[in-house]
Amino acid sequence: EIAARAHVENIDFIIQEALDKSKKKIKDLDGVAATTGPGLVVCLHVGCNIGKSIATFGGKPFLPINHLEGHALSPSIENKISFPYLLLLVSGGHSQYLIVKGLNSYKQIGTTIDDAVGEAFDKTAKILNLGYPGGPSVEKFAKLGNKNSYILPLPIINRGGCNLSLAGLKTDVLRKSKNIKSNQDKYNLAASFQETINKILRKKTEVAMKEFRKKLQDDSIRAFVVAGGVAANETIRKSLKEIANNMNFEPIFPSKEFCGDNAAMIAWSGIQRYKKKLFSKRNESVKSRWPLDEKAPYLKG
Ligand code: KG4
Ligand code: ZN
Repeated sequence: EIAARAHVENIDFIIQEALDKSKKKIKDLDGVAATTGPGLVVCLHVGCNIGKSIATFGGKPFLPINHLEGHALSPSIENKISFPYLLLLVSGGHSQYLIVKGLNSYKQIGTTIDDAVGEAFDKTAKILNLGYPGGPSVEKFAKLGNKNSYILPLPIINRGGCNLSLAGLKTDVLRKSKNIKSNQDKYNLAASFQETINKILRKKTEVAMKEFRKKLQDDSIRAFVVAGGVAANETIRKSLKEIANNMNFEPIFPSKEFCGDNAAMIAWSGIQRYKKKLFSKRNESVKSRWPLDEKAPYLKG
């Protein structure tokens, strides 16, 4: 309810600011895009309702957007990327490997069976009392620590294809945090946690790349795109770039401003759908769960 109220309190000002900054009027718009899932329904309703209202009274098409599609297409705001490409989507709520075949055509080949990568960063930051938001603070304090000082588990590293599991890692961070005696110990644990995530993502990305090639029967150089809030992490960017180069993929990361949640990626997805005339029939509502690949098995737990 607090989050929903914050949306209601801010939405008009945000829309006004977007119009002012872009020097546009509502009559200049071609259409209105709004996130309609997945997420907290009470919050999604706020953007969906105001988006539909502006579209209806402005006589414009309305484009309901999947938040995950926003992340999936975000790297093409700044880069020309041809389909199909391999996507690693790592955010606070999702961690998935997907084959992006085109707009509206996604095949999930891996997902987390418990925590998302961003969630693991946030929980580690909370355990170590490093402040909020968790990801950037773990990254900052990890720079002060020794990444080899703690040995942490690498759950399902040699099995489960390119699916991920991070709950056991978080539990071990919690256990080891009980013996922390100094700030240096804390930084060492943050650095070791980040290094463990890097090891897991390096290995699983290699597996995903092999699977991508096998599934598509395609040995040509394809793009490997990393998106979502965690893609802003410098050490993750560096180590995944190395893997991509070794595996003959072209690594592509959005600029940091487009990694975490942002309105531009939703507008961008709206533009792609507008071009294909994928307009709403105005009878859709918001969805708390909305996987990009509706046919993918549900693997939680
Ligand atoms: O995509 P996003 O902004 O929101 C979701 O859709 O969830 O991702 C937010 C997540 C948070 O868990 C946050 O801690 C993580 O991305 N994150 C990072 C970094 N910046 C944000 N994780 C690791 N390193 C970072 N620099
Ligand atoms: Zn997001």
